[in-house]
Amino acid sequence: MSNTFSYDAIIIGSGAAGLGLALTLPDHLQIAVFSKSNMSEGSTYYAQGGISAVLDSADSHESHRIDTMRAGAGLCHEDIVELVVSNGKASIDWLMANNVEFSTKKNTQSKRKLHLTKEGGHSYRRVVHADDSTGQAVQIALNDQVVNRSNIKIFEHHNIIDLVTSYDDKTGKKKVIGCYVLDTKKDQIFSIKAPCITLATGGASKVYLYTSNPDVSTGDGIAMAWRAGCRVANMEFMQFHPTCLFHPEAKSFLISEAVRGEGGLLLLPDGTRFMPNFDKRAELAPRDIVARAIDHEMKRLGIPSVFLDISHRTAKFTKSHFPMLHKKCLNFGFDMTKEPLPVVPAAHYTCGGVMTNQNGETDIAGLYAIGETAFTGLHGANRMASNSILECLVFAKQASLHITKFLQHANKSPDIKPWDDSKVISSDEAIVVSHNWAELRQFMWDYVGIVRTTKRLQRAKHRINLLKQEIEEYYSNFHVTSDFLELRNLVTTAELIIESALLRKESRGLHYTLDYPKIDDKHFKKDTVLTP
Ligand code: FAD
Ligand code: SIN
Repeated sequence: MSNTFSYDAIIIGSGAAGLGLALTLPDHLQIAVFSKSNMSEGSTYYAQGGISAVLDSADSHESHRIDTMRAGAGLCHEDIVELVVSNGKASIDWLMANNVEFSTKKNTQSKRKLHLTKEGGHSYRRVVHADDSTGQAVQIALNDQVVNRSNIKIFEHHNIIDLVTSYDDKTGKKKVIGCYVLDTKKDQIFSIKAPCITLATGGASKVYLYTSNPDVSTGDGIAMAWRAGCRVANMEFMQFHPTCLFHPEAKSFLISEAVRGEGGLLLLPDGTRFMPNFDKRAELAPRDIVARAIDHEMKRLGIPSVFLDISHRTAKFTKSHFPMLHKKCLNFGFDMTKEPLPVVPAAHYTCGGVMTNQNGETDIAGLYAIGETAFTGLHGANRMASNSILECLVFAKQASLHITKFLQHANKSPDIKPWDDSKVISSDEAIVVSHNWAELRQFMWDYVGIVRTTKRLQRAKHRINLLKQEIEEYYSNFHVTSDFLELRNLVTTAELIIESALLRKESRGLHYTLDYPKIDDKHFKKDTVLTP
């Protein structure tokens, strides 16, 4: 079955990046927004801590810039950091104009002003938040705006399979002309045309067995862009959040860094504090340092978790700052006002991604990438807490300005060849897909995790090669399903992570290898760029 729709702009992803772009593009454009699940299901909805922006009179762009670059361990692109931090206040103002309600407190003149919290790596309180459910407040407000815009059509439960490209008659340059889509409710595939497509598909943390991310974070945008011919950079820098709840049913539920920002301490089972032994910033050191310290202590002592304790603050304080966390932890049997929480690190954020410039443009004309799926140069070797949603919004705006101009001169897309599934059959072997999912995530956790070695990376590479063969075979013979498409994308993403990690023969930021434990500025103070 095949039919083709046509739009001015297609946006793949309905998180902060995708909806931020949809709402900033001019309303004379016909826009299609795609979401693999329901519109809210993405990392944005689950964001807890907040959004960083310089709002305190003692704080400065200079300080935010220095903190971001320090966390990024020498690899942040200074011009991009400058662009993002200088747009912090404008981004918060834009969210408030779109009805996002942030937490406030009374100042000395009894006027309400935004409450700012603190997180790892930040020298000042500069994290704007909506209690401990910032992402939910942002996602719901943006959903409400988008559904009221008659020029925006939302396609929920539609999984984009691949991009379709062609060559420009005049320039000879590769350009995007559309994509193939699986309607997962109807189990039908169709094509859709547009001269401009934006990947806003989020990260790839589902490549690991334990992750704070929702199920949709399967690196689809990165894999699609790679298959289409885009360069990808810095994939070795996968961020592990230090503190996810250790409980068999909690699915690595995140305990916000803001808990440490408000005084939470990391403890060993005997109650000893250990972070001061690793970094003078202790619990508020950047994430790579805290996650590695926890991993070290867990392995050294053979313990299943460490503990995060905020019980020294009053119950009133904890309940009012962290109402969602308090309630959720109670459901799992822990009262954080009275006792320490067992916590472990889990995969959390993809610092690398599809290479873009300051306008969100990729290597293919008309194809943009924004949000977690993109590599802009902001995060370097380690993202600082709460810089991600800010990056989504700043690049949504940058891309919107560029796309608006681009579309003034773009030609209509030519027709797309219909999806051909005449030679494939339905698989009676769904077990192949679920087995390979589990295997991939397990060996990525064991061999390509917080601490790496060349031998472990090579082992993982060998397994990837076997999985790739099976996937190729499956793709040529069977009808595709959502699970299969995600597995295919995860395997591609995993391969990019492993290849990048093998190329970086030093330890920097989130990439730590026992074979090259030191930073090597002479040879490796540069991005790892992979070209298809
Ligand atoms: P997402 O919000 O992940 O959205 C991705 C979208 O793409 C979804 O709509 C999905 O359905 C769609 N999609 C993906 N693939 C396809 C496909 N093939 N076809 C169709 N649609 C597709 N950052 C901060 O700055 N502050 C925080 O406090 C914070 N807390 C966090 C807490 C948690 C638990 C997590 C997981 C992340 C947190 N982060 C935080 C990181 C931040 O939330 C994300 O980096 C950011 O929200 C990503 O936004 P996005 O729009 O790029 O992607
Ligand atoms: C958190 O609340 O700890 C997550 C913040 C982030 O990932 O930026």
